[in-house]
Amino acid sequence: MNEHILVCVAWPYAKTSTHVGQVAGAYLPADTFARYHRMAGDQVLMVSGSDEHGTPIMVESERLGISPREFVANYHRQITEVWERLGISWDLYTETGTQNHYQITQDFFLTLHDKGYIFKDSMQSAYCPTDRRFLPDRYVEGTCPLCGYTGARGDQCDNCGHTLDPIDLLDAKCKLCGSKDSKLEMRMTEHFFLDLPKLQEPLMQWLEHGKEHWRPNTLAFAMNWLKEGLRARAITRDLDWGVPIPLEGYEDKRIYVWFDAVIGYYSASVEWAEKHGNPEAWKTWWVPGQVEPPVKPYYFIGKDNIPFHTIIWPAMLLGYGNRNLPYDVPANEFMTMSGAKASSSRGNAIWTKDVLEKYGADTIRYYLSAAAPEGRDSDFTFDEMIRRNNDELVATYGNVVHRTLTFLQSKFGGVVPQPQTLRPVDQAILDELDNGFRVVGEQISHCHFKEGLNSAMIVARAANRYLDEQAPWKQIKVDREAAGTTIYTIIQVLSGLHLLFCPYLPFSSQKLHGYLGFEGDVATQAWEPQTIPAGITLPKPAPLFPKLEEAVAATE
Ligand code: MF3
Ligand code: ZN
Repeated sequence: MNEHILVCVAWPYAKTSTHVGQVAGAYLPADTFARYHRMAGDQVLMVSGSDEHGTPIMVESERLGISPREFVANYHRQITEVWERLGISWDLYTETGTQNHYQITQDFFLTLHDKGYIFKDSMQSAYCPTDRRFLPDRYVEGTCPLCGYTGARGDQCDNCGHTLDPIDLLDAKCKLCGSKDSKLEMRMTEHFFLDLPKLQEPLMQWLEHGKEHWRPNTLAFAMNWLKEGLRARAITRDLDWGVPIPLEGYEDKRIYVWFDAVIGYYSASVEWAEKHGNPEAWKTWWVPGQVEPPVKPYYFIGKDNIPFHTIIWPAMLLGYGNRNLPYDVPANEFMTMSGAKASSSRGNAIWTKDVLEKYGADTIRYYLSAAAPEGRDSDFTFDEMIRRNNDELVATYGNVVHRTLTFLQSKFGGVVPQPQTLRPVDQAILDELDNGFRVVGEQISHCHFKEGLNSAMIVARAANRYLDEQAPWKQIKVDREAAGTTIYTIIQVLSGLHLLFCPYLPFSSQKLHGYLGFEGDVATQAWEPQTIPAGITLPKPAPLFPKLEEAVAATE
């Protein structure tokens, strides 16, 4: 059954390069998922882009004395380069700074406004007279009135975990210039609000039905939020960096970064359609009733983004009307870095581009998939990445490949031997491979990526065992035909393995694709065993994966 799978992936802020935690949390599972579905014959559209607005970006670019546009362009380029080298197979990776995105964001705003889901109101907001600007909550710092912690932020206290308003803080000061509370003022300002209470009922209707496939944590989180009762949220800011408000009289305000970022999924689909010469094609993905079975939109995100993807974005889509809602939001937990929470501001992030300088993309992909924070937090260490590379990629998968292909070269001149009638043992390993396609496919399509990788590795282990037990290097001394049958069989298994691993390890699968005599792009192959005919000559192989020195880890 052919499906339409829309793969939406969280938009990274264009204010740092990407760190490995982000890759493990969202980009890699999304890419694995998209690659699998393409091989399985489904229609896939995978989109994301750089999130370029918001106060932190503006403040940071000001500090550097460059324009925010120049600032984000630099990081957008760096991020794009990482995707390229890591093999993330976007249909479109764009940015929120495009004309198209501005237009569509404004259309969303106006439509929701006209339908009565956006209203105007005044509010008190912290204002720093020194900087002459309104401060976002997190730029106000002071003492927590509840626990006395002195580093509390205007939005929450990291010590006791309570959410706060800037006005609650004792000795509130501006984080930008450090001016004392005597100078920090609360001023009235006008903003637009998304009327979430009005959408509470339809949201509840939606979340209460057919969500059995959601991860329990994600669903529980969204449900709790909803049950507490939604409050209207300000969706504009006093700022001059962002999407302008499409109404007269608000020239010195902008649309809030989160409001425009989630619209990115939609605007990117429109941009993709435009670029592919079929400007109407986005409708297939976003307007209900265009295809049967209905499109399934998936959102790959980290757990900190759950409220925006399970409540706010669906609310915006419901309010806008007649648009596809998320089918699943497979949010991941966090990946710590050698035990510490990854934070670019605290400087302990591990940048993907640095890791890519030293290690192959598939080594990184393998480790980040195997140790993904799926269902619970996980930890990144270089030692463990090297160990898994050596013990699993090199000693298991790479080993069966290399032993087989070098033996084929030395004893059969590289020509795939003609098998005799397959014996039960041969049939058994081929059956195990067949089963692998079913199991791995099912696990990936249920977003159980760790299990899927594990199941592919189980087939690789079985292949090694089969080779050890048949020992063609012994068989050949007494019965060349039997050795030929073994080699023929194991080559069929390798053919299957390179496809089974392809969603996870596209680069080594492409290499093996060539070693097995295939041409073209492995990513376009079907998700099923592919027979390699007897009699063809295979090229000389090289090892699939490099063995890594343990010592390298010590230098990180
Ligand atoms: N830039 C946000 C972050 O890194 C994620 C935005 S996801 C989107 O946390 F849906 F809003 F785009
Ligand atoms: Zn200030």
